[in-house]
Amino acid sequence: MENREKVKQLMDLRAQARLGGGQKRIDSQHSKGKYTARERIEMLLDEGSFEELDMFLTHRCVNFGLEKEKYLGDGVVIGHGTIEGRSVYVFAQDFTIFGGSLSETMALKICKVMDLAMKMGAPVIGINDSGGARIQEGVTALAGYAEIFERNILASGVIPQISAIFGPCAGGAVYSPALTDFILMTEENSYMFVTGPKVVKTVTGESISTEDLGGAGMHSTKSGVAHFRAESEQDGIAKIRELISYIPQNNLEEAPVVECTDPIHRLEDELNEIIPDNPNMPYDMKRVINGIVDDGHFFEVHADYAKNIIVGFARFNGISTGIIANQPAFMAGVLDCDSSRKAARFIRFCDAFNIPLLTLVDVPGFLPGSGQEYAGIITHGAKLMFAYGEATVPKVTVTLRKSYGGAHCVMSSKQLRGDFNYAWPTAEIAVMGAAGAIEVLEGRAISKIENPEEKAKFIADKTAEYNDKFANPYTAASYGYIDDVIEPRNTRFRVIRAFQALQTKKQVNPLKKHSNIPL
Ligand code: HXC
Repeated sequence: MENREKVKQLMDLRAQARLGGGQKRIDSQHSKGKYTARERIEMLLDEGSFEELDMFLTHRCVNFGLEKEKYLGDGVVIGHGTIEGRSVYVFAQDFTIFGGSLSETMALKICKVMDLAMKMGAPVIGINDSGGARIQEGVTALAGYAEIFERNILASGVIPQISAIFGPCAGGAVYSPALTDFILMTEENSYMFVTGPKVVKTVTGESISTEDLGGAGMHSTKSGVAHFRAESEQDGIAKIRELISYIPQNNLEEAPVVECTDPIHRLEDELNEIIPDNPNMPYDMKRVINGIVDDGHFFEVHADYAKNIIVGFARFNGISTGIIANQPAFMAGVLDCDSSRKAARFIRFCDAFNIPLLTLVDVPGFLPGSGQEYAGIITHGAKLMFAYGEATVPKVTVTLRKSYGGAHCVMSSKQLRGDFNYAWPTAEIAVMGAAGAIEVLEGRAISKIENPEEKAKFIADKTAEYNDKFANPYTAASYGYIDDVIEPRNTRFRVIRAFQALQTKKQVNPLKKHSNIPL
């Protein structure tokens, strides 16, 4: 073969590889409203930055006549490129080749890209669209999954790992995304479950649709498996690009600093009025967040799951910050099993990747009741406490209103190594609210008073006495548990100053193999 022909052969082979499982299957993918693996990568990465690897790898299976059906690259496209100029490693399963089902060689490709990402200290983004283990291969496909799982585990806390689910992700295949830091699902076409509706029907008799069993709606509201729900693949990819902007390349680096044009001294007058006089009235914590962060821009994580706590990323003076905030507008901002798990996981991500934490507190306590106790609120609440207490990144806490009981201790209190703990003048820091406290302390005395007017006056007097003592931040401040009481409208500036002061913070936990967080 002449050299010119050799070059032409290369071009032909590349063109063949780019066709994946063939035009018919590409058309079928498009007809479902889905993009192909390469189209997705093109959308995800900066234009022209993608460098593909292992385009010529083929499967090695000789079972069921599969040796006669081979596709260049097999069912996954891998490589590297950039997002806003920063290096990322990617793999995208190609549904047009055996339904993106995982073969031994596909696993080799995915492992290769993960190993490169680890070596280079760059995030890895996986796009999942697969029928699971390649049935014809059997155990080599299963071994391939396990190889990937082990890499997910070892990479955890070293490089950010992000999973997009743009199609099926079923059976054991769900566990690779589950081991990564963030999962994003598209509203249509994507689903995740350990066993599909047919198996569920056979084993338990339950009839359930694919969507209800494992769709994006369910996973982003009920199970919490999905951190983000996207309207479309484009929307999902835009969200991943934005997420990447808030996080560092690896655990030894800091997140990129963005130029800040929002004045750091900006006063947000509305905040002086936002807390209602009636302590039982809610307000929207998101108004507080939007009021203090750069440009009012907050990138929420787990927006539709356990809405009694809010978590997400924003910037203060251009520096990426993780925000955790109780939401009084949903279940009064109470801590329960789901909100504790949600916030704990977010805190641990931020701590692993050097992202400072701002905690905004308005919490009436832990949700009481058998439902929560049976579900293990003791263990789940301990997760949140553990995550805060273990975190060594800069931690700034602002108590806006209620901070009661165990929930006070948990929410980044001074004793859990909060660096700067501020309070608004409207803060109430106590073992419990006045009504509960008077009931416990004065119940017997109250029951002895027969005259209703006298009884009401007695309760009102005791409540006033209790509120004088505890419905303010000054008792806590007099012990040094609150470093300063700040004017609400000046919160942005005080938070920025606090984080500036904490930039040189160094704190190291005792040496150990690893901690034993109450899982
Ligand atoms: C081999 C597969 C495959 C698989 C799909 N295909 N799944 N080939 N192994 N697991 C092939 C189909 O034969 C078909 O080939 C093409 O991919 C597209 O599949 P369709 O069924 O035509 O597509 P669709 O109707 O969209 O259905 C998609 C699907 C369905 C829901 C994913 O294919 C399906 O149920 N597949 C099996 C899912 C499954 O049970 N997997 C094993 C899970 S257990 P042609 O040639 O016609 O294009 C598991 C264990 C992992 O994964 C363990 C890790 C610990």
